[in-house]
Amino acid sequence: MRHRKGKKRKGLVEKLLSPYWFQVFLFSITWSVFISLQLEKPELIPPLLAVLSVSLTLLRRGLGEFPFKDNPTYATLNGIFTLLIGIATFLKWRDPLCLGEYADAYYLIFVGSSVGILSKAFVRRGGIGNILLLSGITLLLASPNIFILVGFLLGNFVAADIYGHRRDTPSILKAALVGNGIFTAVATGYWIEVAPKGLWKLLYIYPLSVISVIFHIFGLQKLIDLLPFMYSDEKLEKLANLSNPLLEEMMIRAPGTYHHSVMVALLAETIARKLGADALLTRVGAMFHDIGKMVNPLYFIENANGKNYHEGLKPEVSASIIKSHVEEGIALARKYNLPEEIVSFIPEHQGTKLIGFFYHKALEENPNVDESKFRYGGPIPQSKETAIVMIADTVEAMVRALKNPTKEDIRKTVKKAIENLLEEEQLKDSHLSMEELKKIEELLTELLISYYHKRVKYPEKTPRERKV
Ligand SMILES: [Fe+2]
Ligand SMILES: [Fe+2]
Repeated sequence: MRHRKGKKRKGLVEKLLSPYWFQVFLFSITWSVFISLQLEKPELIPPLLAVLSVSLTLLRRGLGEFPFKDNPTYATLNGIFTLLIGIATFLKWRDPLCLGEYADAYYLIFVGSSVGILSKAFVRRGGIGNILLLSGITLLLASPNIFILVGFLLGNFVAADIYGHRRDTPSILKAALVGNGIFTAVATGYWIEVAPKGLWKLLYIYPLSVISVIFHIFGLQKLIDLLPFMYSDEKLEKLANLSNPLLEEMMIRAPGTYHHSVMVALLAETIARKLGADALLTRVGAMFHDIGKMVNPLYFIENANGKNYHEGLKPEVSASIIKSHVEEGIALARKYNLPEEIVSFIPEHQGTKLIGFFYHKALEENPNVDESKFRYGGPIPQSKETAIVMIADTVEAMVRALKNPTKEDIRKTVKKAIENLLEEEQLKDSHLSMEELKKIEELLTELLISYYHKRVKYPEKTPRERKV
């Protein structure tokens, strides 16, 4: 089980089997084969493989995880796209459709805008640039043609953007039509140059390429979804319902936390939708943000039924129990193979916030107390989605603690919660603008007033009226 913090050192075998090294190996072998075949010198494969592997290893020292991400989703997608480009290269060599000088169209037919659309289906927040870059380099080595490369990158970026927020069937069709249209248009520039007489071939190249992309989305995507660590939207949606054993266990062991998570999910999803962020990811992330609390549920106020289980404990001990819900949550999420995008909500919803109550208690006993023992380990929210959950989580807990709040109490609490987060510099990496924060404040106030504010009581019915 991997932990974000306190990671144990990996052995050599474990290291070589990691998603990062799998990608390094895959790309080294692909590039050495492609380059050797281009030069018609197969004997160059072993030395090229050695040079590329060493260079890519050194690259990691300088550039960190770029361009390979140490993440099974990226590794799987990069593997699949390399395979697709490999198949297209093989078809280009055998040319079963007799395309002749139009043989580069096999990339359009077999890969098209699938890379962008499939990446968007599995990699939700940013980062698809890495996959497109690697696929682009592979394509360039397989077929050194700048038109094909530019068409591929442009078509795929646009297709991914169209597929971005609305993932229904019409938007898949639109993404495939437009993405492949752009790829075809740019490649046509090259074909006009080399073989203008064969342009009629586009009449079947373009429709074939669109059909192929649609087949990839409806067929290949379902196959990829079968892998336990890969999550398309459909599978992600199913994650957040009660049939999920992890949530079922949370409801039994930590019912208060379960209820809190449902509330945070409702609030956060509404905000995400209004801001144009990924609402589905936000809802599912919010459902799992506190799963670590089910390890020691009674130490969290929402499950304690009015009792104080921290009585008699040193403030340092209490803070470490509270802090541990993040590490326990990450461990549980990884045990249940939740996607990394969901795992990131667990540390990021707490960021590096101070556990103020126990810190001030400790200060009373010892003015030189180490503040870091009372701070969460971070990182602070890196996306709008995790920041929205952090805000909704903080506000929901604060408002719930109020007794019979008035509208004004709720308004003030929401404002104060957001101000505190800004003061503690928790939102500076979240990409949320001040206008968006203002919008979040208004929305949260409105939603919480409608939920918590006492409604006007209806007059009691008399027993006779009840019988009617
Ligand atoms: Fe939490
Ligand atoms: Fe929470």
